[in-house]
Amino acid sequence: MIPPILEAKILKDGVKSYDLNVQEGKVEFLKGFKTNTYGINGDFLGPTLKVQKNDTIKINVNNSLREETVIHWHGLKIPGINDGGPNRAVVSNSSWNTQFTLNQRASLCWYHPHSHKTTGRQVYMGLAGLIMLEDQESLSLNLPVDYGVDDIPLVLQDRRFDSKAQFLYAQTMHDSMMGVTGDVHLINGVVDPYLEVKPTMIRLRLLNAANARIYSLVFSDNRFFYQIAGDSSLLPKPVKLKRLILSPGERAEILVDFSSLSGQNILLGDSLSNRALLNIKVMTSKPKILSLPQNLTVIDEYAQINSPKRREFTLDMNMMFMGINGKKMNLNRIDEKIVMGDTEIWKIKNSGMHAHPFHIHGCSFKILSRNGKNPYLNEAGLKDTVLIYSNETVELAVKFEHEASIDYPYMYHCHILEHEDAGMMGQFTVTKV
Ligand code: C2O
Ligand code: CU
Ligand code: CU
Repeated sequence: MIPPILEAKILKDGVKSYDLNVQEGKVEFLKGFKTNTYGINGDFLGPTLKVQKNDTIKINVNNSLREETVIHWHGLKIPGINDGGPNRAVVSNSSWNTQFTLNQRASLCWYHPHSHKTTGRQVYMGLAGLIMLEDQESLSLNLPVDYGVDDIPLVLQDRRFDSKAQFLYAQTMHDSMMGVTGDVHLINGVVDPYLEVKPTMIRLRLLNAANARIYSLVFSDNRFFYQIAGDSSLLPKPVKLKRLILSPGERAEILVDFSSLSGQNILLGDSLSNRALLNIKVMTSKPKILSLPQNLTVIDEYAQINSPKRREFTLDMNMMFMGINGKKMNLNRIDEKIVMGDTEIWKIKNSGMHAHPFHIHGCSFKILSRNGKNPYLNEAGLKDTVLIYSNETVELAVKFEHEASIDYPYMYHCHILEHEDAGMMGQFTVTKV
């Protein structure tokens, strides 16, 4: 149940080259039935790219679907021209190559389609994969890094099926308001997933790749665990939790100590849907106690707000309208223009009843406040997606380090994919003065 690692081809100049083949597939999720799916280099979901800071990577996206698509590198801080967004289309049976250098902190990033108005359906069909980025610091901390053994990626999703066992991605009014959720839980594309680990400290790298479901992750014995990283960086220090909220688009890395459970089973579950998500079998062997690093990193790059510019965004959703600042996404309109190098304060306001995960492309941010109060302890790192609850205003310090031209602007949007596709999204450029 662990996604394979995609080996890079090393080109002459040291560039790591990856081929992502976007294709149709079939998977037996329900016994005796084949579901039509999409996948990357396989039937459902895609392989993991393991990369390091300062790597130059080249990605070849080959689209063999019968429709156009485009792949977005969620969390990568790269220029707009290297990213996939609704302003770019990889038409059926064509390819798109892009090459860039990674210059950002260690983080769990991911890739998924971002095609105009079809993102939700294409992700639902199975297009998503992980990008695991390490740096000197993350590798020096003695954290578990044995992929699939003590360093386990978990891609959380849910699906619903029709009577022919096909994905039911119908778009009723209710679906687009509430987002499409399902009663079948998947981890790494597997129904009823099962994981075997040694009785020691295990690192779980979690991605919420569901279209709309918010998870509240807990263990069946209510045990404590430690969050060590969020979307875009390590946390300054491990944060002790019993429950972790993860909204669509968000990532978290946790350390869980299973050393007392030799020979026993434990469940990872979602306390909002009251369902078990993952059955973990702890092997019978000699427990190994590992100690937790006290400090993980120092986040200092957002200390200085060097631009007086304040921007406000209202997340608008009611029975009649869905958008941001009273506007629906329009490919021909640039909503905000930003000067490269600036760190600005963005204020995101949700006066509606539904919580929305707000995401910004090509950069990361630090959460300054939630309704004027300090953000949660496990949000003290850098992020690119933040859940904004009903009647909440969240302030962010956002730093814009790369260029996004009028032809390849960045997006900000709600990461409930049905909201995004319905127009809860805007575009911005980042340019030198
Ligand atoms: Cu993960 Cu614009 O998206
Ligand atoms: Cu993104
Ligand atoms: Cu939303």
